[in-house]
Amino acid sequence: MFCSGNPAVDRYIAEGYETVRGMSSAFAATICGHVIRRQSELGIAGHIAEIGTFEGRFFIAMAVGLAPGERALGIDTFNWPNEGLWDLFHSHCARLGLARDRYTAIKANVRDLAPADIAKALGGQQPGQEASGQKVRFWHLDGDHSRVALLADLALAEATLHPQGMICLDDMLHPGYPLLVVAVHEWLERHPDWRVLAVIDREDIVAAAKFLLCHKDVVPLFEQDLMDTFKAQHWVLGSEWERYFCVVLTPHPRIAQVD
Ligand SMILES: C[S@@+](CC[C@H](N)C(=O)[O-])C[C@H]1O[C@@H](n2cnc3c(N)ncnc32)[C@H](O)[C@@H]1O
Repeated sequence: MFCSGNPAVDRYIAEGYETVRGMSSAFAATICGHVIRRQSELGIAGHIAEIGTFEGRFFIAMAVGLAPGERALGIDTFNWPNEGLWDLFHSHCARLGLARDRYTAIKANVRDLAPADIAKALGGQQPGQEASGQKVRFWHLDGDHSRVALLADLALAEATLHPQGMICLDDMLHPGYPLLVVAVHEWLERHPDWRVLAVIDREDIVAAAKFLLCHKDVVPLFEQDLMDTFKAQHWVLGSEWERYFCVVLTPHPRIAQVD
């Protein structure tokens, strides 16, 4: 059965996801929900954060998967297509069971934010909490889709990330943003200890592929588990990154018919 294994996440994806306008697929939300659940099981505690929250479709899927004491942060200018977006986002959260004390939102251009702003918004270090527990364990980068902006978003995410955390990049290989992957390649060349853990394939042109990035030491904690859990979605040929192959998950794995 294709599910994240977290009942709150799966209920939201089944009943609420399509009621919130957005550009991420239910397929990707399910796999990311699974990764967030597995992080908890492995003792990787911390917050989730997103650049480009829009109405909150993917944000709510990540946030309802958090453990007690962890918080979700949504960053957006919240003014597109109009200023009503801020209230609409909060109303979706309330309607879909995300309590106000479990998340925070910043209405800003992310370029005006520094790592300290992220830490402050997430509540800083709480008494008795591990230092890594105040970090972000799962970032979703889905804001300005320019090469320069993605590199800046990656720098902000890296500066606030749990050492075993995950960075999820949206709209990779999207026909409308072909050069985003150039930024990813440039960043990976500067971070030789990082890997693409998985490519999560598209559902549609408006629900495009995502890449999951993490430190190379984190890959073994998730790689085999993703292939085993999502066996029916696993495209076994894998994705070639010159020095290694990574997992590819797709709604309908197949190779082209040649006869
Ligand atoms: C593609 S939408 C996000 C979709 C959403 N994550 C989802 O999965 O449904 C992109 C969002 O990024 C926001 N955005 C773009 N550039 C931004 C910036 N520099 N700072 C903050 N938000 C930005 C836009 O306002 C828009 O709401």
